[in-house]
This record gives sequence, structure tokens and C-alpha cells, in this order.
Amino acid sequence: MRFLGIETTCDETAAAVVALKPEGGGEILANEVFSQIAEHQAYGGVVPEIAARAHIEVLDRLIQRALETAKVELDDLDGIAAAAGPGLIGGVIIGLTEGKALALAARKPFVAVNHLEAHALTARLAGGLDFPYLLLLVSGGHTQLVAVRGVGDYVRLGATVDDAVGEAFDKVAKMLGLPYPGGPQVERVALKGDAARFDFPRPMLGRPKPDFSFSGLKTAVRLEAEKIAPLNPSAVADLCASFQAAVVDTLVDRLRAGVRVFGERIGPCQAMVVAGGVAANSAIRRALMRFCSESGLRLVVPPVGLCTDNGAMIAWAGIERLRLGLSDDMTFAARPRWPL
Ligand code: KG4
Ligand code: ZN
Repeated sequence: MRFLGIETTCDETAAAVVALKPEGGGEILANEVFSQIAEHQAYGGVVPEIAARAHIEVLDRLIQRALETAKVELDDLDGIAAAAGPGLIGGVIIGLTEGKALALAARKPFVAVNHLEAHALTARLAGGLDFPYLLLLVSGGHTQLVAVRGVGDYVRLGATVDDAVGEAFDKVAKMLGLPYPGGPQVERVALKGDAARFDFPRPMLGRPKPDFSFSGLKTAVRLEAEKIAPLNPSAVADLCASFQAAVVDTLVDRLRAGVRVFGERIGPCQAMVVAGGVAANSAIRRALMRFCSESGLRLVVPPVGLCTDNGAMIAWAGIERLRLGLSDDMTFAARPRWPL
């Protein structure tokens, strides 16, 4: 089974071709990603109208290139999947409409994919991961702990009550004068900083329900930065390192609560999966590895390129759904909000 996947929900335009391997798992035949970071950098964040225009400009070419790299024609495909939300509505409409049009023209099954479901299932692309597992989804728009019981069968155990963790990274970077997107910048600068210099709050620490909160932490960083202004590079590095240390502690504590709740509601937790752009952060990856090895959990972290937004995850979610007989018709509308 070979699928084309299209992703346009935020600031990445992406198209990929993935094949289902006979032994299970998938093979990525092409994975084209065009990042719009340069377009948005001057504004310090994603501008929805600019994002939509950029998707229109590159999507056709990207799909063409993905098909060429994979050495397949539209006719050879077994289905076409497009992210139908949640995300910025202009971009979602563009990718979804393109996917529907191609499926209609080539007379192929069409699957409208939930972007969050795609993140949730990506870890299975490599093969050898069975349900159920605990998913920590940490991106620019979402921070959630989800029990993944099967395709289309998700139980949200906890989520952020305010900012997403990636959003907190981006906002802290902005207030410290670092460019967008802030996550990788904060990580880079934090390497040179002293994580013990500022004792920032660890929000929600010890709470039994595995929820998250990052807006108080972000405010604490802002107040401290104002207090010690003007900021020299070493102060910025210390602020970044102390902020990142607080995020790491919070994530590990919330995960501990998540594993407990998973045990009570779903059954023994054997594997945990991390997905979303923030999973690219090495300090966070190291802390999760330590936590999982101490707790006897198998940790599955997809490669960085599959943690951030991409088309392969959409194609793979399409394969997982069509395999179960799930497909969609041309009336499927874009969904700016679409909880798992
Ligand atoms: O999943 P993603 O590519 O897009 C969505 O939000 O769906 O995640 C992007 C987010 C941004 O907030 C970015 O700052 C954050 O992931 N991020 C990082 C790192 N790389 C990306 N945050 C912390 N450390 C990183 N190395
Ligand atoms: Zn995403």
C-alpha cells in the first residue's frame, strides 16, 4: 500500500510518499518539507495569511517532487491523505482541497487526517510498537498526555491549561531578543548558561492529574529579565538555562503523574512515545530517557525530522486508517479545532 500525505496546517508545507511494508511498519519513499520560517521571521511568529499564500506557492511543486523522488505516478498510489486540522484555517483548506482534488482526479481513496492523530501514530512507522502506549505530545500548539489505545481510540489524560510548551519556548526567546522559532535558540543559548542561577517555578508539580501550565513560568522569566535589565549575553544564557531546567523538571513530574493515571484507567504502561517539535530538544530527550529507564518503560522517540511537522506522518496515518477501512468523502470540511 502506497500513500501520498499532504501537510499544511501551520508553517511547514510538506508532501511525502510512504509505503506499507509487508512485515508491518512503513518505508518513507519521499519526504519533502518546505519550512516557511524565513517568511515569518521578521514578524516574530507565524502570520496566518502569509502562511496560506506560501502554501499555495509551493505545494504543487512539492507534491511533484515527492512523487518523482518516490518514482511513483499518481496512478500507482493506493490512497491520498491530507491533514484536515487542527490548525490555521487558510493553510488547512489549501492542503485539504489539493488532497481531495488529486484523489478525485486519480480515483483514489481519500483520508482526511487529524494532525494530532498523525503525531500520535508516527512512532509506529518504524514498526514494532503495539497499542496501548502513552503519548507525550509537545509542540508549538499542543501539550498533551494521551493514552493511545488504537487507531482512532485516544483517551486524553491531561493537557496544558494555558500555553503549549513550544509556545512558552518561543515567547521566552522573543522576550530575550532571540529569533523565531525560539525553541532551538533557547536550547542553543542554554548550553552556555547556569541553570541554577534562577529558581523558576515548576508549575503543577505534584498534582495527581497530569495537566500542564507554562504561562506562570513564562511570566517569572519576564519579571526576572526586567529586574536584571539591561541583559548581557551571559544573563540571557542563564535565563535560558534556568527556564529550560524548569521545563524539564515539570515535564518529568507530569509524566510521572501520567504513567500513574494510565495505570489506573488503561492498564500497565509499558511504552511511552514523545512527539511534536519540542521533542527535538536534547535536554528534554535526555531527561525522558532517564525517567523511562528508571521506571522500566520503553521510550520511543521518532527521529527529529519526524517529530516536527512533515508529510510522512500524514501519509502513515492515512495508511493506518485505510487499512481499517476508514476513508472520507469530498464533503469533509477543514477543522480549525479538532481535539483527539
Ligand atoms: O510540532 P511542531 O513542528 O509544530 C507544531 O506546533 O505543530 O513544533 C514547533 C515547536 C515550536 O514552538 C518550536 O520552538 C519548538 O517546537 N521546538 C523546540 C525545539 N525545536 C523546535 N523547542 C525546544 N527545543 C528545541 N530544540
Ligand atoms: Zn505538529
